[in-house]
Amino acid sequence: MSQQPSSRQSKRILSGVQPSGYLHLGNYFGAIQQHIELQNEGEAFYFIANYHALTTIQEPAMLRANTRDVAATYLALGLDPQKAVLFRQSDVPEVTELTWILSTVTGMGLLERAVSYKDKLGRGLKASVGLFTYPILMAADILIYNSDIVPVGQDQVQHIEMTQDMAQYFNNTYQCEVFRRPGYRLNKATCKVPGTDGQKMSKSYGNSIGIFATGSELKKPVMGIVTDSTPLEEPKDPESCTVFALYSLFASSEEKEEMAGRYRAGGFGYGSAKKELLTKIKDYFGPYLDRRNELLKDGDTLEDILVAGARAARVEARKVLDAARDACGLV
Ligand code: ADP
Ligand code: TRP
Repeated sequence: MSQQPSSRQSKRILSGVQPSGYLHLGNYFGAIQQHIELQNEGEAFYFIANYHALTTIQEPAMLRANTRDVAATYLALGLDPQKAVLFRQSDVPEVTELTWILSTVTGMGLLERAVSYKDKLGRGLKASVGLFTYPILMAADILIYNSDIVPVGQDQVQHIEMTQDMAQYFNNTYQCEVFRRPGYRLNKATCKVPGTDGQKMSKSYGNSIGIFATGSELKKPVMGIVTDSTPLEEPKDPESCTVFALYSLFASSEEKEEMAGRYRAGGFGYGSAKKELLTKIKDYFGPYLDRRNELLKDGDTLEDILVAGARAARVEARKVLDAARDACGLV
């Protein structure tokens, strides 16, 4: 009987981010911030999910640029490659082999229930086989690193549950304990960051504010945040205002209360609130901008970090893949 690869002292934390566009405030407050904090709580593995991104991006130059942007953004914002393993998904091709193995124990019905597949079709994406089997690749990502905790947004929970099912199908089929059952951890309560139109901020809705946007690329979306038409002099409700919701992500509780008071008192316009938000965004991300630009310019450092990360990740992946191959009789 195949054994589970050796037990560890600390928890393994794993997550992936698709390089499908430049990262925005929703990605930061919903995911990146927490990923960086978690590097101090366990063995963190983070990868840039470029195999997954092929389901939506089929322009090589764009995929490369986005991949570098995700890496530079994480590193500039504090991901420490001495503490966390950062790598490109495609530098560990073992996951594709495990994807195949898992696909042979997974029923069609499980994938047919995937909400995110239906959502994506609804948004006009092409129904490729890859888009349909996306959750199996994601399960392989998680299981191949023997992950304990997967920090994700609410939209990914079903994928983690499917991963738990696939681990069990395999272990049951082959009467083994090759795969560890992963759990998910939801990103913080701040986790539905609204976009400039008040809906969930998302690359695909054209309502996002980039983490490292500058000049008019920052000013335009912020000043364009949709608000109601309450006249300047009248009292306003901070709780229903997108500008206030975004400001709250950056402000201390005193600053929040102070601005909420000005909303309620009247005589405070949305334009002024937007300018204060703009200042907050610049003050918060500004100090990291140079580092991010340096990393993007100095491709070698970035590449070295990703290659070293992949080397470390691959050692772990190989162990689990070999155990799976052994369990099902491939070796
Ligand atoms: P997008 O919706 O822009 O395509 P992704 O689906 O690539 O973003 O999300 C990457 C990560 O960022 C996920 O963990 C997701 O939950 C988180 N995230 C994305 N948008 C938001 C948002 N508006 N609020 C909170 N978290 C978000
Ligand atoms: N599907 C995830 C998203 O769109 C990205 C992802 C790929 C992932 N593989 C993963 C997240 C493994 C966590 C674990 O956000």
